[in-house]
Amino acid sequence: MSIKHVLITGGAGFIGAHVANELLAHGYAVRALDALVPQVHGNSRERPPYLSNDVELMVGDIRDTNLLSKALNNIDAVINLVALVGVGQSMYQIAEYTSVNNGGTATLMELLSAQPVEAIVVASSMSVYGEGLYRNSKGETKFALNRSLEDLKRSRWEMYDEDGEELTPIPTPETKTPALASLYALSKYDQEVMTLVLARAYGMRAVALRFFNTYGPFQALANPYTGVLSNFAARVLNGKAPLIYEDGLQKRDFVSVYDVASACRLALESKAADGQALNISSGQSMTVGEIASKTIRCLSARGLEPELTGKYRVGDIRHCFADISRAQQVLGWSPSVSLEQGLEDLAAWLDGQETHDNSMEARAELAARGLVL
Ligand SMILES: NC(=O)c1ccc[n+]([C@@H]2O[C@H](COP(=O)([O-])OP(=O)(O)OC[C@H]3O[C@@H](n4cnc5c(N)ncnc54)[C@H](O)[C@@H]3O)[C@@H](O)[C@H]2O)c1
Repeated sequence: MSIKHVLITGGAGFIGAHVANELLAHGYAVRALDALVPQVHGNSRERPPYLSNDVELMVGDIRDTNLLSKALNNIDAVINLVALVGVGQSMYQIAEYTSVNNGGTATLMELLSAQPVEAIVVASSMSVYGEGLYRNSKGETKFALNRSLEDLKRSRWEMYDEDGEELTPIPTPETKTPALASLYALSKYDQEVMTLVLARAYGMRAVALRFFNTYGPFQALANPYTGVLSNFAARVLNGKAPLIYEDGLQKRDFVSVYDVASACRLALESKAADGQALNISSGQSMTVGEIASKTIRCLSARGLEPELTGKYRVGDIRHCFADISRAQQVLGWSPSVSLEQGLEDLAAWLDGQETHDNSMEARAELAARGLVL
């Protein structure tokens, strides 16, 4: 059986709309199921203008079995992107995150168990790793590390081993044992394992893609719980400095959404990737401070400087960036958009976008719950 018709759950979201474009450009027919949740799409909950007219959009909740069953009609493969995506928010909207993320995927897999498709790709996340991988001066690998509350209160941000030696972060491969530091991470790991286990049992090909920090056009600027780069952009567009936790030297890995979209298509097509979890990122590390400065520069917002808060968010990790060699080998995929190109492209889209900056409300919400120290 060859794949022609693809259902993207969460297909009206940021990554979903790009995956749809990628699939349409490669000759697939695309249906999207999306609840157009207000936090992402605003209260009007209209079909987003960025979503290609060639996408058949069904509006509704992934947990609605009847609707999902209709959405799966004549579908050969599924890309499951539905999730609530706020790491901090997941720490207090516990029932809702578990219901949508874990429960939504459970509903999907239950229907697929009765009516399997050829292939399923599920969106996982770098958050399943918790802290990335580290090495000490003897070249030994160190993992499953945590920073103590005392250290964080003293602004001692880096990672140290039991002898007090500062550790060096190194690229994190898929073999690193997950260390879940938020309810969001738990839900992504659950979605990943549930999908791989059940797909195997019912004879479907399946791949979990662990996306790192994804950026690009269409990301919901007004959603303060989404990606760091769009949060910075939303503040800069409102004439405010990006707010940075800790000292800004924490390292992350930023990947263009176009590279994420091509990885999704290749994962759908690749027989070699079956049963695997793969890191999808640029493979380059960058400090959060650097990315804030680059955002300011790319939006030509002279006079603004990133603002260091010196504060720490519960569940935040110090450094994590990807080893992408497995995805490169298995999918024959490579990131092709440089950060410079990607930021230019983002700036072009941001030009003309208006947005509210809701970051202070989000921060106050976390602080009120003792989740910002
Ligand atoms: N953006 C990133 O940096 C990143 C990183 C790692 C993993 N991911 C994962 O990628 C996937 C897509 O993320 P995104 O950045 O495009 O987020 P997004 O919020 O833009 O898209 C998610 C979409 O799911 C929809 N949705 C939410 N709840 C739903 C429900 N109950 N039923 C139907 N639709 C519902 C939303 O309306 C939204 O359009 C998510 O699974 C996320 O966990 C994203």
